[in-house]
Amino acid sequence: MSSNARTRADSSFDERSARSAQYAKGMERLVGAVRELSMARDVDTIRAIVRRVARELTGADGATFVLRDDDRCYYVDEDAIGPLWKGLRFPMTSCISGWSMLHREAVAIEDIYRDDRIPHDAYRPTFVKSLAMVPIRLEAPIGAIGNYWAEPHKASEGELKLLQALADSTSVALENVQVYGELEKRVQQRTSELEAANRELEAFSYSVSHDLRAPLRAVDGFSAALAEDYADKLDDTGRMHLERVRAGAQRMGALIDDLLSLSKITRTPIRDDSLDLSMLAAKVLDDLRAREPDRRVEVEIAPSLLARGDERLVTIALENLLGNAWKFTSKQPVGTIAVGREESDVGTAFFVRDNGAGFDPTRSRGMFAPFQRFHRASEFEGTGIGLATVQRIITRHGGRIWAHSEEGAGATFFFTLTPAT
Ligand SMILES: Nc1ncnc2c1ncn2[C@@H]1O[C@H](COP(=O)(O)OP(=O)(O)OP(=O)(O)O)[C@@H](O)[C@H]1O
Ligand SMILES: [Mg+2]
Repeated sequence: MSSNARTRADSSFDERSARSAQYAKGMERLVGAVRELSMARDVDTIRAIVRRVARELTGADGATFVLRDDDRCYYVDEDAIGPLWKGLRFPMTSCISGWSMLHREAVAIEDIYRDDRIPHDAYRPTFVKSLAMVPIRLEAPIGAIGNYWAEPHKASEGELKLLQALADSTSVALENVQVYGELEKRVQQRTSELEAANRELEAFSYSVSHDLRAPLRAVDGFSAALAEDYADKLDDTGRMHLERVRAGAQRMGALIDDLLSLSKITRTPIRDDSLDLSMLAAKVLDDLRAREPDRRVEVEIAPSLLARGDERLVTIALENLLGNAWKFTSKQPVGTIAVGREESDVGTAFFVRDNGAGFDPTRSRGMFAPFQRFHRASEFEGTGIGLATVQRIITRHGGRIWAHSEEGAGATFFFTLTPAT
């Protein structure tokens, strides 16, 4: 072999090995880019990834990211040794990205000035001598990715494959963004529909409760009058019926009052006080004890249970939770009630625990809905509005509430609030 031939062989060997090293590097970049693209949630992120990766894949001197904008090619972004056409729009029929999209084909051009598909005037101010262009999405392309070289370069099949693989992942990512956008829009629409429905329901229950009060007062008042003025004309059964009418009317009045106070909780704005739940709980339990001094109840309150929230509303929540604990331990020889703090899946949670009647966890669905009760009124009295109130208060504070129990083995109610600062 002559020394000339050897040099040629060596240089083509060098060139081949440089190309395969670049290909390996490109593959590696591609894998990373595919992963990044799969997590992109908006077009700007996709654009930033494509802009960075398109050039690195092949080691080209420049890369562009083009999106179809009706019948125009919009050069959205670029990364190159000199300025290209970022921000410009060209008709689909007079630029190579448009050609690639219209023909749904990758294209490699070694000498752009000898190819009629190229608008030479647009290229003259640039460094570009050679290029490769691949469409994004072969079915109905939505854009294209271009690579440019300052020296004559014939893009290899490997380079085109890398670029096409990037374009394919970009197309999936763009479609995902559209789907996410659509989903988000639907969620927002649903949420505002729900909010509107909720507001309507609130207003409805408020006005119904209000309107019901007047006829109810009439029922109660007139049956009281009947009982007083016509007592001698009624026999025992008649008087008993009348008593039942009055008791029913009074109970309904109490239900309406509860409903009204529940809807008030949803309406009043939330204050941001610093709270000491240990102190608030102690006060509530003192009041409970004062009302039933003969009950034997052991109380354990962890110190410094600090949080932020509306003191008035959180006190109402504690009154209901501790009131329940007090009530449902009433059949125990010695009741125990503990208030404390514990780590949970959703962060630090406060709890109110008792050793009372408990409830069957399999039957406790809807426990926090108004008027849901799991014990007979003859066993434990109540309307079933307490936990609905507590839940509203906690969720209005952005917290969560849940309960654990076993029937006959006490109950624990957990809730979260904004931590103290
Ligand atoms: N600490 C508890 N132990 C056992 N069961 C409970 C406890 N707290 C609540 N429950 C169950 O959940 C139901 C709903 O509680 P909620 O506080 O809403 O209503 P209530 O206490 O029955 O009535 P109200 O609070 O309106 O006077 C109760 O009737 C009871 O069945
Ligand atoms: Mg209650």
